[in-house]
Order: sequence, then structure tokens, then C-alpha cells
Amino acid sequence: MPAKLNVNIDHVATVREARKTIEPSIIAAAVVSEQAGANGITVHLRGDRRHIQDKDILLLREVVTTYLNVEMAATEEMLAIAVRTKPDAVSLVAENPNEITTEGGLDVINNFSNVQNAAQKLKDAGIFVSLFIDPDTEQIEAAKGVGAQQVELCTAEYAELTIGAKSSHGEGAERAAQEIERIKNAARFAKSSGLIVAAGHGLTYRNVGALAAIPEITEFNIGHNIISRSIFVGLNQAVGEMIEAISKSEK
Ligand code: PXP
Repeated sequence: MPAKLNVNIDHVATVREARKTIEPSIIAAAVVSEQAGANGITVHLRGDRRHIQDKDILLLREVVTTYLNVEMAATEEMLAIAVRTKPDAVSLVAENPNEITTEGGLDVINNFSNVQNAAQKLKDAGIFVSLFIDPDTEQIEAAKGVGAQQVELCTAEYAELTIGAKSSHGEGAERAAQEIERIKNAARFAKSSGLIVAAGHGLTYRNVGALAAIPEITEFNIGHNIISRSIFVGLNQAVGEMIEAISKSEK
């Protein structure tokens, strides 16, 4: 079975917040994505509220019928919002105030007790807990140790190696192949540790195939590339094309 696709609709809210107005509607974006075949909707409620707002989470919780995954930092403020609004899943991420986007995986090893407490609070509220981490054996062991149910492997490094001129041949291609191996090994190790395996960050129609072929990865969270393409072809088609890119890879 092909991996599931959760569409990250943060950047629909980015456009809305550019004018602090009501359009484009992220509720419409969620509904269109679901109708196009998405298995879930992902949003990141950032501390600085640069795109998704608290009220969006409340509205999405009422409207999303598939699966609502909310990415957040493991802070008291965010955990309280999660416990109150009850998304299906929370993905704990590392967050730095000045970053353009999430820069890498959560360091579970060095934040063990904080992440463990956060995971427990979420699980007590009936929320599925995923940790966004680098494809690294020790971080996976720590994720298991804090009681996470899923890891989402950060594909940022792979994505970086597949974009632009450096990607197609020579050293870039070789390094991308090595990074695929690293993700593959991490996915295997995580699954054998009893964790469900997701992946995401920087994935595109062009580069998702190599990862979709890894059988242990059962979920992708993809945003920027889908929302970018939707400007030209519409969200319905953009989501459909990503589902096709994921599905056509042989497992
Ligand atoms: N997964 C996580 C944990 C993220 O933080 C993000 C970005 O918000 C994504 C997936 C999606 O990344 P992109 O927008 O590059 O597809």
C-alpha cells in the first residue's frame, strides 16, 4: 500500500496573514485537499503565529474528517492548546524564533525529560504522539524511550541535495544516494523498535519517489511544494499529482 499523504496547509495561512485578512481560507484548503484524496491535514502552530492561528486549530478540528496532525514545540502553552483542541496527532518539533522554516529534527536526547513529559500529557489526552527527528539511530532510541508512537524522519538534508544544478550528477547525486541510505536504515531501525515511521520536509514531486519506495515509511507530510504548485494548477490537481508521485513508486 502506498504511504499516506498529509497535506501541510501552513502556506495558505501565510498568504492570508500577509494581509491579515480572511482569504485564502485554510478551511477551504483542508476540504479541497481531503476531497482530492489526502489522508490528513497537517498544520504547524508556531510560537510566533506567523501563519496558523489558534482559532484555525479550533475550526480545523471541527471540519477535518480525515486526520488532523498539529506540529508544535513542546512548550506548556502549546501542550495546553493541544489538550484543549484534541487533534488526532501532535508532532513535536524543534522551533527557533528566527528560522525561516523548521531547521532540523528535535534533539530528544538532550531534552529527554521535557519531551517525555510532553508525550505523556498528549497520550493522556488521547492524542497520538509523533516526534520530528533527524534520521539518527540514537535519536530514534531516545524517541522510543520517551514513549513516542511515531517518528517523522527529517528529510531536509536529502531535499537540499536534490534541488538545483548540483543535484543531477556528480557529487550531489552521490550524496543524495547516501542520504537515501541513511533514511532507509533509520526507517528500518525505527520500525524494528516498534515505532511507526513518517517522513517530511522539503519533499517535492520530483524527489519524493525515492523515499516512497522505502516500505517502512507509511506517511508523508508535505506542504510547500504542493501549495506552490497549487498557485498554477489549483489545489485539487496539486494534491492529486503528489498522491500519484507517491503511489507510483514500487515498494
Ligand atoms: N514535517 C514537519 C515536521 C515540518 O515542520 C514541516 C514544515 O512545516 C513539514 C513536514 C513540511 O515541510 P514542507 O513544507 O517543506 O513540505
